[in-house]
Amino acid sequence: MPARIAAGNWKMNGTRADLDQIDALTAAHPAPAVEIMLCLPATLIAEATARAAGQALRIGAQDCHAQPAGAHTGDIAAAQLADAGAQVVILGHSERRTDHGEDDALVGAKLRAACDAGLRPILCVGESLAERDAGKTLERIGTQLDGALADFDTMPAGLVVAYEPVWAIGTGRTPSLDQIGEVHDFLRKQIKARYGGATAADVPLLYGGSVKPANAAEIFGVPNVDGALVGGASLKESDFSPIIAALTSS
Ligand code: PGA
Repeated sequence: MPARIAAGNWKMNGTRADLDQIDALTAAHPAPAVEIMLCLPATLIAEATARAAGQALRIGAQDCHAQPAGAHTGDIAAAQLADAGAQVVILGHSERRTDHGEDDALVGAKLRAACDAGLRPILCVGESLAERDAGKTLERIGTQLDGALADFDTMPAGLVVAYEPVWAIGTGRTPSLDQIGEVHDFLRKQIKARYGGATAADVPLLYGGSVKPANAAEIFGVPNVDGALVGGASLKESDFSPIIAALTSS
């Protein structure tokens, strides 16, 4: 069985003053039955790691550079994120693909860099609304998965895959439960075809895109949904905790 994961993605939100949300989160979940992660702006990782020391909360990042070091002004290497305390990194988020022109080959290179630095990768895939309307959802997701994993003969250690339909992110819209189930079944089959059934069975598949307390339980009831990648509703402990509770009782 895959681990069940509730992962927050603060995106470009938060300053050190907001880290009291971490204290609230760890106090609310002293011994969680699911894995809890918060992927933070890089500026907050070190202090958040210190605050979460000894607690069941993993601190993560939202991106890394594909190279281990060098002349890349403004970028951050995977090993630097790990040095700051990150244990996890989101890769290939649609906002990176849109804002920074990241393609599947670059996402694959970043995946390699993350693995080399010992970071657990959360690989994001998802279709645009135009792709869904054109009936190309599975084709697009298959391309993204294949592109990122092309150079991996064996599965990246600790791989987590997040299905995030671009049109559901931050919009309040979510796919139907059948649509979520169709993509998650497809992801499991694709990973099985690439790495075998035993390996694929252990890969946590997260759904992301407008997950909130009101819809979390029904989403977690969909087969092959092992957790969520949560944006807006991860910023406040009072929103994130009910999502964690819904996953725990799913
Ligand atoms: P959202 O973002 O929950 O605010 O829709 C999800 C994500 O982009 O990871």
